[in-house]
Amino acid sequence: MPSLFEPIEMGSIYAKNRVFMSPMTRAKATPEHVPTPIMVEYYTQRATAGLIISEATGISREGLGCPYAPGLWTQEQVEAWKPVTAAVHAKGGKIVAQLWHMGRVMHSSVTGMQPVSSSATKAPEPLHTYNGKQDPEVARPLTKEDIARIVNDYGNAARNALEAGFDGVQIHAANGYLIDQFLRDSANHRSDDYGGSPENRIRILREVTEAVIAAIGADKTSVRLSPNGDSQGCIDSHPEQVFIPAAKLLNDLKIAFLELRELGPDGTFGKSDQPKLHGPIRKVFTKPLVLNQDYTREEAIETVATGVADAIAFGRPFIANPDLVHRLEDNLPLNKDNIQTWYSRGPEGYIDYPFAR
Ligand SMILES: Cc1cc2nc3c(=O)[nH]c(=O)nc-3n(C[C@H](O)[C@H](O)[C@H](O)COP(=O)(O)O)c2cc1C
Repeated sequence: MPSLFEPIEMGSIYAKNRVFMSPMTRAKATPEHVPTPIMVEYYTQRATAGLIISEATGISREGLGCPYAPGLWTQEQVEAWKPVTAAVHAKGGKIVAQLWHMGRVMHSSVTGMQPVSSSATKAPEPLHTYNGKQDPEVARPLTKEDIARIVNDYGNAARNALEAGFDGVQIHAANGYLIDQFLRDSANHRSDDYGGSPENRIRILREVTEAVIAAIGADKTSVRLSPNGDSQGCIDSHPEQVFIPAAKLLNDLKIAFLELRELGPDGTFGKSDQPKLHGPIRKVFTKPLVLNQDYTREEAIETVATGVADAIAFGRPFIANPDLVHRLEDNLPLNKDNIQTWYSRGPEGYIDYPFAR
């Protein structure tokens, strides 16, 4: 029986345990999207995770509309990530960069450009900008030339991630951002090669994954999907018809691991009655599978021990417990995260959560 606290090899990435830190935007970079020294401290505190998946990180100016989120498209950004990855490695940790294009979930006041997506749709909710919340704008549907450019941007950002010292990358294909806006039929109304059939809606995921693999190798490439439920207006009428073939494709491309964020009927970070798909996905994706959302210590131990998944990614528990692995191993009480400081500026609620010892 594998244990949550045992190591696992995923492609070229050796994780010393199966308690992973899920990707979490914390908005501590500069307005130019350059990482800052406080991020070194934050990630270093959490280096006992088997693997840290970084906060979502922009692949390009046009793809990043989140105030104070970091990027990986300029040399300055690459240089500013180096102390983060070096400090995590010095503590014996591993870290991959989550690569992000936000698609329609952006406002022109942040990017200077009309948002883009698979189709001319809008994000469902007002968007964070440097001037408070603003109403979403109708996205410009991407042309095939645009798609080719964006695919190339993912490859460049992956190369930059390795130059910055990351152990690999995670392609963010979840949570209603650009790739998810192609995958799911509520957002994708195209009638060309990138819309309609599941195969067509998966096409951009395939092209992006192939470009990242060409840039850094499949053994350093991973993907995050959120197959069930509604994420920022992205929902599929038949999720199994698109996400099972997508997982099969990723298996054939031999990526290092696949992470699924799945919503349960009582989820505390979004909920859904659409069934979780990790069972059928496990059958077609035979490499390491990582599951996320709302896992308790007991569920995580059981899920790994019974072979339902190979590792569990924790989000909010890692915000509030830098030493989460130790606390889970010794069954110690957990600190509760404070939602008010998720995206605030400064050290409070970021690097001041107490360690158990
Ligand atoms: C503050 C915050 C920021 C987040 N940012 C991201 C992100 O950048 N990329 C991503 O894929 N998910 C993001 N998520 C989702 C988390 O990775 C995770 O899926 C969610 O917190 C559920 O897991 P949990 O129940 O263990 O907290 C974020 C969640 C929180 C609370």
